[in-house]
Amino acid sequence: MTAASQTPSTGDAASVTRLGPPRGLSDTVRLLILPGDGIGGEIMPEVRRIAEWFGAARGLRIDLREELLGIPAWRAHGSLMRDETWAEILAADAVLFGAIGSHEYPALIPAHARQDPLMRLRGELELFINLRPIRLMPALADVSPLRAEVALGTDLLVVREFTGDIYFGTPRGITTDAGGRRCAFNTMAYTDVEIERIARTGFDMGRARRGKVTSVDKANLLETSRLWREVVQAVHDADYPDVELSHVYVDNCAMQLVRAPRQFDVILTGNQFGDILSDGAAAAAGSIGLLPSASLGAPDANGRRRAVYEPIHGSAPDIAGRGIANPIGAILSFALCLRYTFCQPEEAARLEQAVERAVAAGARTADIAVPSTPALSTRAMGDAILRELDGSLGG
Ligand code: IPM
Ligand code: MG
Repeated sequence: MTAASQTPSTGDAASVTRLGPPRGLSDTVRLLILPGDGIGGEIMPEVRRIAEWFGAARGLRIDLREELLGIPAWRAHGSLMRDETWAEILAADAVLFGAIGSHEYPALIPAHARQDPLMRLRGELELFINLRPIRLMPALADVSPLRAEVALGTDLLVVREFTGDIYFGTPRGITTDAGGRRCAFNTMAYTDVEIERIARTGFDMGRARRGKVTSVDKANLLETSRLWREVVQAVHDADYPDVELSHVYVDNCAMQLVRAPRQFDVILTGNQFGDILSDGAAAAAGSIGLLPSASLGAPDANGRRRAVYEPIHGSAPDIAGRGIANPIGAILSFALCLRYTFCQPEEAARLEQAVERAVAAGARTADIAVPSTPALSTRAMGDAILRELDGSLGG
């Protein structure tokens, strides 16, 4: 019996495309900003300004809090993530995350204190869904490293399983074998339950988009991928026959993303393949600095999901401290928060369109600059988007 036939369909109400009861404007949503390391401290103030705009201009009731994380937290409190911060995370409706990572870790932080706060967040909150929409704004066709006729029209969603696979599998470690050789190992593992729940998410998203799901695996070699393919197909046949499903090997998928990215609608894949493919696909959009993500857990009794919203770029130590980082990935992550935590799709679209208009009007940070226009600072890009938001009010 397949996983799909053992588990009754959870129905449309549980679909990630319908996240819990729509919040009224009177509901206060508690948000926790965690800027983290590197450029996180530069881009998240722009997200704060955008969130405050939605409070003031659109009447969203937001309880906005902020905590240090990573190196700044270590400097202030001697801990990468203190217990108070974890309590704030648990109490928040959603976390707005900047970035984590720095070349300072090895010298500054003793090995025993170096637990990765990001992996703790993903693992302990059980954020098994990671959504990474990748779309080329037409105004940036010339910035994409792909030829415009190849890249234009790229609009895909990577649905990445986020709490399993080789990143979380045990045993893992580095040992010395009988012959004195050092030996490192990790475990790639998936259960049918883990595969089924992310497959449902992928198909729900496909249904809400263009109805096409490409499941990516390495089933010609890996047992985990064989189970993946079997369960994805079974879930499809049982509950989503209206969605077009194809299975592609990960190496081929990498090539297809560069050769013809337009062919993809939803890419459904595991944690490691999703990590790699989403960075690869990001190039088509012009810059990894533009791209948002939403990480979500299972719905609770009220239909609400734990959520972390973060840009997919990292802490970018090479440009940190200069005020030139692109805040768009973080700002579009807040748009995903408007969509999935506030359940306000119109407000999400308002923000996405404001970003697109600002970019179309020529607002460019260094990563997406063209020779003829001066590059904007992080702050000035925030200003440009806020102006477009003001303009969206009309009158
Ligand atoms: C990402 C990042 C992380 C990951 C790193 C920082 C652990 O690359 O969010 O894609 O691999 O998941
Ligand atoms: Mg990555």
